[in-house]
Amino acid sequence: RPLVVAIDGPSGSGKSSVSKEVARRLRLAYLDTGAMYRALTWYCLESGIDLSDASAVEAASESFPLEVSTSPLEEFVRVGGVDVTQAIRKPSISAAVSSVATTLGARTELIRRQRELIDQHHRRMVVEGRDITTVVVPQAEVRMLLTASEEARLRRRGIQLGGSQTAEQLAAQVTQRDAKDSTVVNFTRAADGVVTLDSSDLDFEETVSAALEIVDS
Ligand code: CDP
Repeated sequence: RPLVVAIDGPSGSGKSSVSKEVARRLRLAYLDTGAMYRALTWYCLESGIDLSDASAVEAASESFPLEVSTSPLEEFVRVGGVDVTQAIRKPSISAAVSSVATTLGARTELIRRQRELIDQHHRRMVVEGRDITTVVVPQAEVRMLLTASEEARLRRRGIQLGGSQTAEQLAAQVTQRDAKDSTVVNFTRAADGVVTLDSSDLDFEETVSAALEIVDS
């Protein structure tokens, strides 16, 4: 029986950790689509591709040899055999990823690959990103938007990045990335039929429980 759990949300909403835990508890496969956009960004930068050259970015998206984990129990991203799991989390990638993600041709190709992975797992998967509930799998059995107040999101991001940059710089970076991303995907409001889960005042466990309740309902 198919069970696609589509989870969208902005940066720092707790999306990745919550989605992964939901997949573990339900014994479903798991796909972090953000990691795919990050890996493509890494590949373009590594290949010396000008990120403002849409046709070059699109061509790169079609040929890049990506391997991404579909298990919530292990995290890995490889491009042509190179392990980029850590490299794609660097600030230089975070700063460049929106340029790649706003290239429509590249989105089309990554979405095609995402759908292929979902089918390969017999449509039993938690899929997280920005456009999963609206574009990638609008027909998903469960669709939710994980949100959090700006304050809560920045707090979580700050903790994740280890406090190596000042809070203001961080805040500006995250806000800019969200603003640029939302020019092509709308993840700030829930689409029709999408359940909003606001995690501002919930801890990790409470958020996971609330997400599991949405799946059960
Ligand atoms: O670090 P954070 O959790 O905010 O983002 P991520 O999930 O790793 O995604 C990184 C970037 O990929 C986003 O800022 C978007 O530019 C892009 N993305 C997208 O456009 N569509 C998706 N379904 C997932 C990510």
